[in-house]
Amino acid sequence: MKTIEKLSTGIFRKKILEMTAYQVAEADGFIKLDAMENPYGWPNDLTDEWLNTLRTCEINRYPDPDARQLNNKLRAMNQIPTELGVLLGNGSDEIIQLLLMALTPHATVMAPDPSFVMYKQISDGLDLNFHAIPLQANNFALDLPCFLKAIEEIKPKVIFLAYPNNPTGNLFNASEIREILNHAPGLVIIDEAYAPFTDATFMTEILHFNNLLVMRTVSKLGLAGLRLGYLVGQNEIINQLNKIRLPYNINVLTQISTLFALSNYAIFKQQTQLICQERTTLTQELKKMPQLEVFPSDANFILFRVLNHSASGLFTFLKEQQVLIKSLANHKTPLTNCLRVTVGKAEENQAFLTALSQYFIVVDHTD
Ligand SMILES: Cc1ncc(COP(=O)(O)O)c(C=O)c1O
Repeated sequence: MKTIEKLSTGIFRKKILEMTAYQVAEADGFIKLDAMENPYGWPNDLTDEWLNTLRTCEINRYPDPDARQLNNKLRAMNQIPTELGVLLGNGSDEIIQLLLMALTPHATVMAPDPSFVMYKQISDGLDLNFHAIPLQANNFALDLPCFLKAIEEIKPKVIFLAYPNNPTGNLFNASEIREILNHAPGLVIIDEAYAPFTDATFMTEILHFNNLLVMRTVSKLGLAGLRLGYLVGQNEIINQLNKIRLPYNINVLTQISTLFALSNYAIFKQQTQLICQERTTLTQELKKMPQLEVFPSDANFILFRVLNHSASGLFTFLKEQQVLIKSLANHKTPLTNCLRVTVGKAEENQAFLTALSQYFIVVDHTD
């Protein structure tokens, strides 16, 4: 009998054999500030109303393959004109995958570094040529001359720009993005996953740039469990991608539940405003700590660098206090010794801040 390792060699692509799976931390029992989720639930009456709508749901039947009601709702909410198409995905992760699957073999894909890890992860899995262009180390802004030079040389089929960017939290300069749109020979995807926490958007510019596509998700709004993302762009592009989308990729529970949730948008408006207020408070509190360098954020998380102490040590200490954040401590420059915390409820943020202060008291005392 062949060993398990031998079994996959020669069958799967080399790049896949070399890859490591996307890691999701075990979070049971933790104050969960690692995944940019909305920490708030719904009031009981709204939950009851939602459960009542689910009664109408025929789970013995396949869902509407085009999720037309949901698609129309998203069009109306975002004032998307009929000249543009909307593709729905099982999270924006699936949309990234669909888009990259459609490219010519070994096509080049470009994104800033650091940025959302799935751009590279999915490109690698599909044997595409992924090019990371470093952001400016001091403020995580785009290095425009470097970006334009790389576009000229590499001629990427697709460029991803997360706006605001993950894990840095900043918005890139909009006129620099327009420069990129003007110079890009292929498609430019503006990934607006964190749209609920900023007014900045490229949604209104899609008609001005026919190579621009805007991607959104309902995950950060407060519906991460439903897995729904959408891509808006020229019908010509969306129609091509629809050919390789699996027919029933948006399940019936997601269709009904998202439609219901978006029809009660006021609750999310309230919650996201609260998150933005908490972001301000948390940023101010973190900035009071001399051991940290705190970066400005237009998203629902904050990136900070630990100065003269070990970020890994702090991350482990926080975990021992049942506070889970995201460690970027092992990443290379410009993320050296950085951690990322998602903005939670006031009491969760306070528990995080208390644990953080305790750590510095303990280590500074033992030093
Ligand atoms: C920039 C960015 N895009 C997309 C996603 C994935 O979103 P979804 O939950 O819709 O797959 C994330 C998740 O963290 C993200 O940070």
